[in-house]
Amino acid sequence: MGELERLLEVIEEIAAGRYSNDIMDLTRPEAPEPVRSIAEAMGLMMVKVEAREYRLEMLIQELRELNETIRRNAVATVSAMANALAARDTYTEGHAERVGRIAGLIAEELGLPDEEIERVRIAGRLHDIGKIGFSDRLFLPHEGKNPEDVIREITRHPTTGADILKDLDFLGPALDYVRAHHERPDGRGYPKHLTDPDIPLGAKVIAVADGYDAMTTDRPYQKGRTPDEALAILKNGAGAHWDPACVAAFERILPKMLSAAPIPSCGTHHP
Ligand SMILES: [Fe+2]
Ligand SMILES: [Fe+2]
Repeated sequence: MGELERLLEVIEEIAAGRYSNDIMDLTRPEAPEPVRSIAEAMGLMMVKVEAREYRLEMLIQELRELNETIRRNAVATVSAMANALAARDTYTEGHAERVGRIAGLIAEELGLPDEEIERVRIAGRLHDIGKIGFSDRLFLPHEGKNPEDVIREITRHPTTGADILKDLDFLGPALDYVRAHHERPDGRGYPKHLTDPDIPLGAKVIAVADGYDAMTTDRPYQKGRTPDEALAILKNGAGAHWDPACVAAFERILPKMLSAAPIPSCGTHHP
């Protein structure tokens, strides 16, 4: 093959994005002119292009890191909001954190993609944020049945929560998990009485984590159940109250969860 044909071939390769050092071969002193000059010019151009590509990659990397910082800050901000709620609602201290963690573990067990696991974890952390709008009397110890206006106020917290969070773009579908965390597959949940196919998976995951944590924590009006008792209740309610696949996934992770370092469960220190 002539040097000129070889040069054209190498240029075509480069144009197709396949860089190699073949072009340098053609810059040897014994290469004929004008092949040698063209190859030299080509080689120089490639070096410049490569330098630019490298810079672009660096910039993209920087952007990624900035984006991650912004996301982390946003999560920290909403976590601060969740903590503000915890400060008001001392019965359920640690509840949001535990629900976030358990929901994340269930999502992992279900084999959801990493991004989705993270979303479920954040939504779990924030699921009760709407309670921040509750009137003070809802946080006071009470016994027996709640009056109707109190029930109405309670059932509004998923919607209030999603409204509070709605401008945080990065939450995406997690907003719907907050909105639907008290829905039930049988349609007897709230606020929308959705039935199974309309309840997002993330919300079903949080519902199981929420149910488990509520049952196993001491509250002023209830002694916490044991993990086994709570699991039995979850299994009994699978299909009606909770999603069966989520309950099954939870059952699989429960032993691991119990042997791991526990998140401190409070509720008993309340005055
Ligand atoms: Fe809730
Ligand atoms: Fe909750």
